[in-house]
Amino acid sequence: MAVLNILDNNPVCDLLGIKYPICQAGMYQVAYGELAAAVSEAGGLGVIGSAFMDPEDLRREIRLVKDRTDKPFGVDILFAEVSGEDATETGYTQQVEDHIAVTFQEGCDVLVSGLGNPGRIVPDAHARGMKVMSLVGNVRQAVAVEASGVDVVIASGHEGGGHVGRIGTISLIPKVVDSVNIPVLAAGGLADGRGLLASLAMGAQGVWMGTRFIATQEARGHDNYKNKIVEIDEDGTVVTRAHSGKPNRMIRNQFTDAWIGRETEIKPFPQQLREVGEDGSYRGRIEGDTAMGVLPAGQGAGLIHSVPPAGQVVEDIMAEARAILQGWEQA
Ligand SMILES: Cc1cc2nc3c(=O)[nH]c(=O)nc-3n(C[C@H](O)[C@H](O)[C@H](O)COP(=O)(O)O)c2cc1C
Repeated sequence: MAVLNILDNNPVCDLLGIKYPICQAGMYQVAYGELAAAVSEAGGLGVIGSAFMDPEDLRREIRLVKDRTDKPFGVDILFAEVSGEDATETGYTQQVEDHIAVTFQEGCDVLVSGLGNPGRIVPDAHARGMKVMSLVGNVRQAVAVEASGVDVVIASGHEGGGHVGRIGTISLIPKVVDSVNIPVLAAGGLADGRGLLASLAMGAQGVWMGTRFIATQEARGHDNYKNKIVEIDEDGTVVTRAHSGKPNRMIRNQFTDAWIGRETEIKPFPQQLREVGEDGSYRGRIEGDTAMGVLPAGQGAGLIHSVPPAGQVVEDIMAEARAILQGWEQA
């Protein structure tokens, strides 16, 4: 039975104050308070994706989570550094500055940096009792965010949904584990108990799952989007810069096909996002236009067959991982 403790007695769970080593990715326009509260209440870490929210909407969502659960939860901010007219004097956008301010005013347990290096705000977050986690796509970024004082690094592989790096999860995770001294969460294409166990075997202490939690009842988004994730197989996504100017994995459709061969027309981030991506996101996620909308999802969609409550997803992942471990112990 000793090996079962890996699942139930995990250092990163102690650090974050959660029961299970399952964190729900803070996905913009998908992960609002309702989803975060459901995941946290089930024993994982629910995270609000703040990007593109009005600051007052973020405040409302943080309060909603606190109304529904007293368990730890997080807020994810895209700390993308920008230049020119989009930049404030700190190098972040005004919206990022506003989100930092609201998050500090309202409070949360875990501040997650979804992009860039959050180093400048780590001391302030720690002073408020928050843990800081940072998403990376390669070893160089992992070493850099560790040096900035973050508590946990989330290594997200090429299979994942949304913005992606170039390295596949199976190669990225052990390499990051070898390169930093802080806990690592694995991400990218993971959608079930097998992914959780594989991540632990590679030296990660838990998982950060996005796409699996889009196809849940509490996720914000049109049913067409959720059902499309259930419908596609492992080959149904593609990486393109057409949405934001940065490489982003999304469901292959007429929108993504229309940009093939027109890559030189794609503007840099965040210009492309403003001119093309925001409208595409609205069409996809809110209006449910699965042909011309932007529908980010990872290759793990091939493992997703239903749209259950988010708490059920957490329970199912743990049950599957436990059953596999028990099978090994009995063998
Ligand atoms: C719809 C969608 C939106 C996302 N938005 C964000 C975001 O706002 N911040 C962030 O840190 N990561 C974001 N991500 C990436 C996730 O954090 C994570 O790296 C990815 O979902 C992991 O791969 P998976 O989808 O295969 O689980 C997003 C992913 C998706 C699918």
